[in-house]
Amino acid sequence: MGATTAYALMLRALFREIILIDRDEALAEAEAMDISDAGVLARPTHVRSGNFADAASARIAVLTAGAATHGSESRLSVTARSADIVQSCIRDLVAAGFDGLLIVAANSVDLMAWVAKDVSGFPGHRVIGTGTLLDSSRLQQTIAARLNVAASSVDALMIGEHGDSSVAALSIARIGGVALESIEAGTRPNAADLAEEVRGAAYKIIEGKGYTSFGVATAIVRICEAIVRDEHAVVPVSTLLTGQYGITDLYLSLPCILGETGVERVLTPHLSQSETAALIASANMLRTAKHALDR
Ligand code: LAC
Repeated sequence: MGATTAYALMLRALFREIILIDRDEALAEAEAMDISDAGVLARPTHVRSGNFADAASARIAVLTAGAATHGSESRLSVTARSADIVQSCIRDLVAAGFDGLLIVAANSVDLMAWVAKDVSGFPGHRVIGTGTLLDSSRLQQTIAARLNVAASSVDALMIGEHGDSSVAALSIARIGGVALESIEAGTRPNAADLAEEVRGAAYKIIEGKGYTSFGVATAIVRICEAIVRDEHAVVPVSTLLTGQYGITDLYLSLPCILGETGVERVLTPHLSQSETAALIASANMLRTAKHALDR
């Protein structure tokens, strides 16, 4: 995932330099060389391997290192293994002097974002999990395919956990500005089916190739772009909740306004009763997993 992300970032020419850090230094060096070869032909970006000290002055650090899920393993099932990796990386990064923005992609991403915030001591707005940005693009694609419209004309959000308890907020979904719920019942996609298809997407990809990479790498690029260009764009990401929907001290995904300082504002859309209940249930699921981390 890390090398794919670096390649995607190079193609978007967002950064002057990208440093790849991996405990397998030979691998990091080889990936950096390979991406640099592409850079000459695509968008000149200095890509090199390095260590945490090299990253100290970086504006953004992207953390993709974590335990991989296999087969039907849930993202929550690798939480403890990922937490050890994330804790070690963040400790070394901050000890080296890094004081920028953290983007966390390691799963289970909502808990790993919380661990990264806890260990770094950074304010919540500077620690962002990729969250349900990827799930929301999957939901947009699924609705677009069902209704035979362009995915770019679908505005739809998955919120809550980036995982099996994620919530399809269809009551606020729009097709070219038209409420999805106002579309003829006969052609309107079934909410439960949609959510199930979105939640199953990663499992299907992992079954076929063993991991996912391109989707999450592009989600990371989108988040970096909103930050670097100070877009003030609304993007669904995993963020620290401080009382929204009565949820505190937990990371999960809601639509957030992203700019150069990170999360500028967390938006709290008016959800249906069932969506609100599902969001609370998702939060409770994450809180239980967080307690199991003894953090
Ligand atoms: C996915 C991984 C990144 O959903 O959790 O593709």
